[in-house]
Amino acid sequence: MSTTSASSTTPAKTISVNETIRHARIHGLGGYRPERVVTNEEICQWIDSSDEWIQQRSGIVTRRFAREDETVIDMAEAASVQALDRAGIGPEQIGAVVMATVSHPYQTPAAAPELAHRLGIPNPAAFDISAACAGYCHGISIANDMVRAGTVDYVLVVGVEKLSDFTDKHDRGSAFIFGDGAGAAVVGISDFPGIGPTLWGSLGDQRDVITQRESWTGLRPAMEDADRDEDIEWPAFVMQGQTVFRWAVFSMAPVAVEAVKAAGLTPDDLDAFVPHQANMRITDAMIKALKLPEHVPVARDIAETGNTSAASIPLAMSRMLDEGEAPHGGIALQIGFGAGLVYAAQVVVMP
Ligand code: COA
Repeated sequence: MSTTSASSTTPAKTISVNETIRHARIHGLGGYRPERVVTNEEICQWIDSSDEWIQQRSGIVTRRFAREDETVIDMAEAASVQALDRAGIGPEQIGAVVMATVSHPYQTPAAAPELAHRLGIPNPAAFDISAACAGYCHGISIANDMVRAGTVDYVLVVGVEKLSDFTDKHDRGSAFIFGDGAGAAVVGISDFPGIGPTLWGSLGDQRDVITQRESWTGLRPAMEDADRDEDIEWPAFVMQGQTVFRWAVFSMAPVAVEAVKAAGLTPDDLDAFVPHQANMRITDAMIKALKLPEHVPVARDIAETGNTSAASIPLAMSRMLDEGEAPHGGIALQIGFGAGLVYAAQVVVMP
């Protein structure tokens, strides 16, 4: 048995690596909301509920649903074109495409290479990440590290979901929450630090709290046996609402506070708070738990967009910038949390 430890191994040759750490920031944001506005009345055709109950319990007034033939790649393309345009960055400058989604309906191939091809990005690294409603903040963290380490100069990060495909319209606990949309960010080299340290983590023992109801392979026996006298349950996303609520409010606020501290800032320094648009009541409770100063504007895009999982933070931040609610160049705290359970938070300079 060899007694040589990894630490005592001296390589025969030295690998050359980039020694300089660089700064990174978000250069441009883009968003896409599908055309079709879906009211609470329409949702109530399928569940025993009311417009008043939905608004009071979730803050959602309307959400958008994509067309049947509209894919996550179509939506991602529209958001990315806007982000690239606003960043003033050409497709040929993008070295990597990171796509956060849990509703691309193909196990393989990933959506990112196809998106890159559509955008005319020549031969980038392109891959999808699965971190549910925290996917965008995971993507920003990965992109930040790639740019800072010198792996690439510019990364396109996309959060996109077509949750209408994965919602059980008869499920009272989730049918009114989810919507469709896409948000995109161009992360690239910068003269100043534009993305703070990421606070992130996971609680795998809580996997049942928000989950796809049935696995794909679990569907197979029922599909293969045409005579089987059993309903096939579509693998929709379902959740334990109260558990999600408590976790988001009590556990995520301290993470958000730590993300601000890790960037060497205080809540007073913030120009915007952009939490994942899970539920308006969760946002309100987080503001209290955070003791957020009153002067800090808070994203409330959920009212008209619903919960779009990985897309919600870039969509909400884009709206705040477009409507003059948050200043370009200001500091925003963003935090994503969701199925896994997983979470990620960081402070960013808004483009
Ligand atoms: N419409 C009307 N009434 C409903 C309802 C609906 N869609 N769903 C549940 N109810 C009723 C229940 O029947 C129950 O009635 P009862 O008191 O007469 O028995 C009452 O509302 C409370 O039910 P409960 O399941 O405890 O609901 P809740 O107060 O926890 O609210 C959520 C449900 C989903 C709104 C809430 O749990 C929540 O906001 N959770 C967070 C979900 C979230 O943000 N997910 C995003 C994950 S990223």
